[in-house]
Amino acid sequence: MTVRVTVADPMVHRCDVLAVGVFAAPGRLEGLAAKLDQALGGALARALHDEKFTAELGKVFVLHTLGKLPAARVAIVGLGDRDAFTIDRLRLAAASVARAAQDRRLSRLALAPLQHRDWEPAAIAAARAEGAILGTYAFTKYRKEKSHGVDVDLLAANRAEATALEAGRRRGQVVAEAVNYARDLVNEPPNVLTPDALAGEARRAARGTKLKVQVWGPQDLKKRGLEVILAVGGASAHTPRLILMDYAPARPRRTIALAGKGVTFDTGGVDLKTPEGMATMKEDMSGAAAVLATMRALPLLQPAVRVTAAIAAVENAVGSRAMRPGDVVTAVNGTTIEITNTDAEGRLILADAVAHLAAGGPDEIIDLATLTGAASVALGPYAAAVMGSDQGLVDRLIGAGARAGERLVPFPLYEEYRRAMRSDIADIKNAASRHGGAQKGAAFIGEFAGKVPWAHVDIAPVAFLDGEEGTSPVLPRGGTGFGVRTLLEYLAGRG
Ligand code: BES
Ligand code: MN
Ligand code: ZN
Repeated sequence: MTVRVTVADPMVHRCDVLAVGVFAAPGRLEGLAAKLDQALGGALARALHDEKFTAELGKVFVLHTLGKLPAARVAIVGLGDRDAFTIDRLRLAAASVARAAQDRRLSRLALAPLQHRDWEPAAIAAARAEGAILGTYAFTKYRKEKSHGVDVDLLAANRAEATALEAGRRRGQVVAEAVNYARDLVNEPPNVLTPDALAGEARRAARGTKLKVQVWGPQDLKKRGLEVILAVGGASAHTPRLILMDYAPARPRRTIALAGKGVTFDTGGVDLKTPEGMATMKEDMSGAAAVLATMRALPLLQPAVRVTAAIAAVENAVGSRAMRPGDVVTAVNGTTIEITNTDAEGRLILADAVAHLAAGGPDEIIDLATLTGAASVALGPYAAAVMGSDQGLVDRLIGAGARAGERLVPFPLYEEYRRAMRSDIADIKNAASRHGGAQKGAAFIGEFAGKVPWAHVDIAPVAFLDGEEGTSPVLPRGGTGFGVRTLLEYLAGRG
């Protein structure tokens, strides 16, 4: 899909479908919708009335213009209540109409100009571009039938307006393409997307940019004492990798470290999952995908903040070399860990990754992980959980998520959760009882951040949707790419 800004009058612009947003219950059509209705001899108002169109958010009504207008069709897009309208709702509406055009196999979609007294034109263009690109995403790599391509024109009244829109359009496109890239990585099957393949993606992402990438294989991990990652990946023929990435702009305001859980498949290990629990466990590298996609977008967005990333990529397999309940392993910072459950592997690999990042002395550490079923049970597929050692950092992440259209809900991190992770024979154990499971997992990871302000985002609820509990126009079935929008918004605000 391409999104462009085009200077054109919607009344004379030629396209397959011209989209116009309307608010709920206006009584009668206003503005451009009224002008279009007039050109159609009142047919638009009559059709909307007869079809009981309610302008509910994301509802789309398409009417053929039968040669009465240069646009072959008009799409009336519901924007919901005028008073409840937000940038996020604009993003959802753009996603809905782009998807409607795609479903009808229409190729040229034009979005009529939209102004809002509280919003910058660039923010409007960014939300529309983002929505359209996110809304038409489909993973068709392994199918003969590909999805229909839609080209979108954001109509502008004049050159000056077009210039203002263009900056937002570009940003929205970069962000949405980063999200879709993360989705592709998550949807890629686990026999293809192995730890080594993920490392290859990082190398490819850096090619031709000033991103630096380093990949540590089993020998490097052993030499540098990242034994926990080795233990988790021990049973798989697809050996572990630690993928280190560095975005270093000229005069950075601060250094932010990102860690991603990259379990390319989670069988649970010796504490084997049930078939139902294992079915979608290719999603267990969604944190890694979000971090990698974010890093890949940074050279295009150029925030003035240094970002270092550590992506721990392993397969949690079963076999005679697998770690067992009762094993004790030592993390890179010297902390010993009693493994009480081999299915709590995400926090194990993040122990080494976060401790490694902390040793570099960044200003903040943020980790993203599909860490616990407990977070999923608590929230359903509607939000991620966030917690950490620094309330300011947690609050800023929640704010960035809200602006970017991703929900992050704060969970408490009481001292008691950390206490529950005490081991009889080592410094800490990796699993305790299920109660407060998301917080206990987080408390474990927090041990390895040392004194560096740290936050953890448990994206298990939202990383992968099976559609049973519903998706949204911007969240498809399968990998969602959750976290990319929040991270890019957050980093932009810290640079
Ligand atoms: N990858 C899972 C968590 C998960 C569950 C992600 C569902 C996405 C959807 C993780 O490695 C895991 O198995 N966690 C255990 C931890 C427990 C053994 C302490 C869990 O949540 O049951
Ligand atoms: Mn697990
Ligand atoms: Zn896992």
